[in-house]
Amino acid sequence: MAATYPQTMTPTDFQHSLLTWFDKHGRKDLPWQQNRNPYRVWLSEIMLQQTQVTTVIPYFNAFIEKFPLLENLSDAPIDEVLHCWSGLGYYARARNLHKAAQLIVKQGYFPDTLLGLMALPGIGLSTAGAILSMAFNKSHPILDGNVKRVLARLNAVSGWSGHTQVERQLWAISTQLTPVERVADYTQAMMDLGATLCTRSNPVCTLCPVNTHCKARISGTVSMYPTPKPVKVLPIKQRIFLLLMDQDERILLEKRPATGIWGGLWSLPEFASIEDANYWCLAKNLRIVSQCVLKPKRHTFSHFHLDYTPLCVKTENPINIVMEANLAVWYNAGEINNLGLATPIKMLLQPLNNEDNND
Ligand code: ADE
Repeated sequence: MAATYPQTMTPTDFQHSLLTWFDKHGRKDLPWQQNRNPYRVWLSEIMLQQTQVTTVIPYFNAFIEKFPLLENLSDAPIDEVLHCWSGLGYYARARNLHKAAQLIVKQGYFPDTLLGLMALPGIGLSTAGAILSMAFNKSHPILDGNVKRVLARLNAVSGWSGHTQVERQLWAISTQLTPVERVADYTQAMMDLGATLCTRSNPVCTLCPVNTHCKARISGTVSMYPTPKPVKVLPIKQRIFLLLMDQDERILLEKRPATGIWGGLWSLPEFASIEDANYWCLAKNLRIVSQCVLKPKRHTFSHFHLDYTPLCVKTENPINIVMEANLAVWYNAGEINNLGLATPIKMLLQPLNNEDNND
């Protein structure tokens, strides 16, 4: 089969240029690169799936401090894991990580094959490739967002990478270019190239170690690659968040179902309208002392905008509330930092948090 990389460049040329650059300019001081082991590499790769390196670093360090070993993570209650994840978003990652840790401990060894890794929740083909190459030095290709961009430009691959045909093409190139030797450095080098030079906007092609091999650069079409995702207008969901407070400044929190948006996190009771929220308070026999509506805010998920309006209600009889499906508790506003809370809710409650107001 004809090679899909530029004919003037062999994989060995490409690897050599890239690794020479990596030795001089690559990142070697990231926390997960120190004391490297499969657990640390896996954790970092999961955190980095949808989050930037600079955001991940403090979360990674705090997480490792709390759960230094895989066994610590496996033994921890899910609420503690979610608390450490609070603010990183995409909480299914934390739930999968916890489930996978329990599976690994049960099977007694950390899997070091593609099949073994992909059998774990939260690990797809690219993450498995990254773990195999960086934790076990086994030659496996990766294809994360950065690498897709580098390869799309290198080979002038048109079409959105979400289309199977395009993705297949990019995997084929990634496979052809991945070396057998120094594969951990190669994988990190590809990520670094995408993150530091071959960036989405304003790529620094003049400093790129593989610019003489790059079809997009040679044809002056770098800005055309990668082909963007077809524009989709996100739907808007409107919600009222009921911030129900008693006279001791305790807030009613509701635990969200384990799956779905903010799964397993603590949140505020949600309603479709202010009337529904008021009706609910009435039906629960809550005596209302005061109420006010705050300015609506927007939180954007990958597939919809959530426009939420906080409705603050003060009650003088904080009765035991039984929700239809979820757990509900009255929680001291000063202690919310101990909970796994959805970020917008945390921001909403922060002004009530005495711990932060002590200085
Ligand atoms: N993105 C995904 N994995 C990464 C890693 N190991 N280093 C930097 N960025 C990454």
